[in-house]
Amino acid sequence: MVTRAGAGAAVAATAVVALLSAALALYRPPLDAVLERAFSLRKVHSIKDMENTLQLVRNIIPPLSSTKHKGQDGRIGVVGGCQEYTGAPYFAAISALKVGADLSHVFCASAAAPVIKAYSPELIVHPVLFAEGGNEGLSSNKTFRALSSDSPSAVDEVEKWLPRLHALVVGPGLGRDDVLLRNVQGILEASKARDIPVVIDADGLWLVAQQPALIQGYQKAVLTPNHMEFSRLYDAVLRGPVDSDDRHGSVLRLSQALGNVTVVQKGERDILSNGQQVLVCSQEGSSRRCGGQGDLLSGSLGVLVHWALLAGPEKTNGSSPLLVAAFGACSLTRQCNHQAFQKHGRSTTTSDMIAEVGAAFRKLFET
Ligand SMILES: *[C@@H]1O[C@H](CO)[C@@H](O)[C@H](O)[C@H]1NC(C)=O
Ligand SMILES: *[C@@H]1O[C@H](CO)[C@@H](O)[C@H](O)[C@H]1NC(C)=O
Repeated sequence: MVTRAGAGAAVAATAVVALLSAALALYRPPLDAVLERAFSLRKVHSIKDMENTLQLVRNIIPPLSSTKHKGQDGRIGVVGGCQEYTGAPYFAAISALKVGADLSHVFCASAAAPVIKAYSPELIVHPVLFAEGGNEGLSSNKTFRALSSDSPSAVDEVEKWLPRLHALVVGPGLGRDDVLLRNVQGILEASKARDIPVVIDADGLWLVAQQPALIQGYQKAVLTPNHMEFSRLYDAVLRGPVDSDDRHGSVLRLSQALGNVTVVQKGERDILSNGQQVLVCSQEGSSRRCGGQGDLLSGSLGVLVHWALLAGPEKTNGSSPLLVAAFGACSLTRQCNHQAFQKHGRSTTTSDMIAEVGAAFRKLFET
């Protein structure tokens, strides 16, 4: 006799087998990643799931069409860039364009704006992050300074643009200036209020570690921590050290503790979770890591998140659109790294990787 629960399990098992055979049919050898269910970590641990997930990424990519008007495929905003850091926001914003966004905006501190504009005529650069008085760089108080009420605030300046943006990438080259972070806090709150997806990286994650409530439970947030940033977040949210023997479990737990916010832990393999599923992206990259690689990831993720949400859950086959988008961005970044390394070896830099976006995209998603 089978119990009702037993019968249910049998049906579920059949579904898993069906899923795996479908995946097997799609499997192609160079691709190597796994999809795991949170409740059976390391059980459904198969390479073919990677190809299955890549297929979902292909499903969310909007076809090119001459009938669309400019802006339909994505208007992305990057919030970051200060006196010290101008490369990161540039890399993120240009990556968004190269992946297929129609317009890419950068909202940065005024000192960074002319530099970023000089890197590229293709970006729209707004020197607004310190709009309250132009005394940027001078503040190093531990407490946030109040914004003066008689000058337009940075938050208002960015908020004006929010209705025209499909996704924000917050953090590349942000720095940790108190006033600036306070502005970014306001920008995050305004984005949440408008239901705009946000990808948070670098010093944006530093801010989230100080105030996890900022993104707690926000279903349209994706965090992209590296090893250090992950440990800091984990410690801030779960009040304990990361179990380094259980990366999958750690990413899952952090995501759940943040209310199922999507978390992408970058590393030798990228581990992704939305609190329900755990995906592993081990698309072949190279042994070369260059500063700026994370900006390519965050910028391309901004576009893919927009596309995934636009495509809707039927295109992602029931999987979380944000998780599928994140998987796509991780695969693409790693493929760019791989291709750039083939050509440049040890001298590979992020600019070399960005030059590969077109070919890498075609190889992964359009063949
Ligand atoms: C979509 O889901 C169905 C049912 O779970 C499964 O059979 C199929 O293989 C999935 N397709 C992809 C591309 O993941
Ligand atoms: C997150 O997902 C888990 C697994 O599905 C679920 O048990 C939990 O209730 C979810 N948490 C929130 C805040 O939605």
